[in-house]
Amino acid sequence: MSELKNIPRHVAIIMDGNGRWAELRHKERFYGHIQGVESVRATVKAAIRNGVRYVTLYAFSTENWERPEEEVSALMELFCRSVENETPELQRQGVRVAMIGDRSRFPSEVRQSLDRIEQETASGDKLTLILALNYSSRSELTRAARLLAARAAAGELSPQQIDEKEMAAALYTAPYPDPDLVIRTSGEMRLSNFLLWQSSYAELYFPEVLWPDFTEEEFDRAVKVYAGRDRRFGRIKKK
Ligand code: FPP
Repeated sequence: MSELKNIPRHVAIIMDGNGRWAELRHKERFYGHIQGVESVRATVKAAIRNGVRYVTLYAFSTENWERPEEEVSALMELFCRSVENETPELQRQGVRVAMIGDRSRFPSEVRQSLDRIEQETASGDKLTLILALNYSSRSELTRAARLLAARAAAGELSPQQIDEKEMAAALYTAPYPDPDLVIRTSGEMRLSNFLLWQSSYAELYFPEVLWPDFTEEEFDRAVKVYAGRDRRFGRIKKK
């Protein structure tokens, strides 16, 4: 367990730079995604060691469907293979796997693998690993507006009762606390439609390292940077 006092409960990560990592080595972009799975393993280990309770990974955005078909289907295969191969180790480590996003567009084999890993890891109590799959904040917020409008139209709730609590409860992330720290690797400084509502007060950290080079030490560094930040949530500093 970390010696630091101020540990983020929830770390959300935009895993960026797989393609560039592969291109730098004159390999296909997909090679970077394969290597990226190693960084996911390192992240899980380091998160548990530091006492982080939730990690969300932006694994596939709604915009990623626009990539070449071979890359999309190779990513789908990688998700299936990774979840099948990793399940026993995740169970051993006490990791519960959960998902946010709209899985309905995924091929049925992928959906089945994802359902299976959720069921088989349901009792994990050390870390909740949330995979954002076919996820984007704008589509999540639009879906929430639609759900609330339907409840209002059905007379279950008046428009005046729609407050921040109702909004948060209509999001995919309703069961989880907001992220305390959002990391995006590869030096890019954008949130790219990721957890926009939930990250309102999150600390942001943009290391230069490409995702396939993100190690346990890199995760430790991020936790240390977070511990040194002064979160005020719009208030002034306590004397
Ligand atoms: C972004 O890098 C990465 C992705 C879109 C895919 C991330 C997926 C993995 C690391 C596999 C993880 C597997 C599981 C089971 C969670 P990029 O391709 O946008 O890189 P670039 O910006 O250098 O082109």
